Amino acid sequence: MESLFALEMVRVTEAAAIASARLMGRGDRMGADHAAVEAMRAAMDAVEMHGTIVIGEGERDEAPMLWIGEPVGARGEGHQEVDIAVDPLEGTNLVAHGQPNAVTVLAASERGGLLHAPDTYLEKLCVGPVAAGHVDITATPTENVRAIASALRRDVRDITVIILERPRHEALIDEVRATGARIKLISDGDMAAAISCAVSGTGVHAVMGIGGAPEGVITAAALKCLGGEIQARFRFRNDEERARAEKMGTTADETRVLRTDDLAPGERLVFAASGVTSGDLLHGVRFFGGGARTHSLVMDYRGQQVRFVDTVHMFDRSKPPAVRL
Ligand code: FBP
Repeated sequence: MESLFALEMVRVTEAAAIASARLMGRGDRMGADHAAVEAMRAAMDAVEMHGTIVIGEGERDEAPMLWIGEPVGARGEGHQEVDIAVDPLEGTNLVAHGQPNAVTVLAASERGGLLHAPDTYLEKLCVGPVAAGHVDITATPTENVRAIASALRRDVRDITVIILERPRHEALIDEVRATGARIKLISDGDMAAAISCAVSGTGVHAVMGIGGAPEGVITAAALKCLGGEIQARFRFRNDEERARAEKMGTTADETRVLRTDDLAPGERLVFAASGVTSGDLLHGVRFFGGGARTHSLVMDYRGQQVRFVDTVHMFDRSKPPAVRL
């Protein structure tokens, strides 16, 4: 059941990727995001489900579409109830500047299967399946880098850690550099980065640092499907954010360590992501006369399936493009 549903979900991220990729390099991050949101919203309504957005573009009064609580899907009789967390475009700036690693993403689950996280910050430590169970966010970055190297049976110098390049991460970057590990500083996109850590062959092994909490929930769903791990702690900037977390029924305790199952407790999790611009994990959208080709990752936790989906979309039936290998 989830396998078929997963394939419906990948059509949603594909539609968003094609729409936003059209705006690559235009310097218009809002436009690229809006295109992804509109396409995602329209594609969702074709899916047979009673969907509810639990992580979206914001509160109802601040987002015209994909707001938290918004009903989505065909909503017919007998359709299943589904909670959905979306990031219609992770990497709005990346698309605006034609840079790598922008993706369109969603996670879905049975009701209550995804934490209702406020749009605040979360400190994250993400690793793939081999290092899962060997790290501890309450330990120092040095200890964690060494633990990851030991789990992967590598020298610390052969570990690559991804960190968002932000002033708040100066001390973290200095400490990881001092361990001898390699670092990949990214301007945006810690969710795609975290998923890369759990996919062998991408050449990255951990994500450390503070990023968006909503992205953390979707990351947890993806890492759960891949056997990886996220550990996280809320990092609020002020009392207003703390109050927002409490209002959403989430913990406002910044010392509490949230693990993969706290962020994505669902058993019927489905995850889908499509590349907008090419990156470590996915190819970006490639347009050609009469069509486009997309590259996606779609996963189904219960079915234990991970699929990379390479789709040719034909826009004009009267002028079908030659499908190439
Ligand atoms: P966009 O929503 O603009 O695409 O940014 C995504 C992102 O880079 C996430 O990957 C990351 O978790 C968060 O923003 C970091 O937030 P900030 O830019 O405030 O440091």
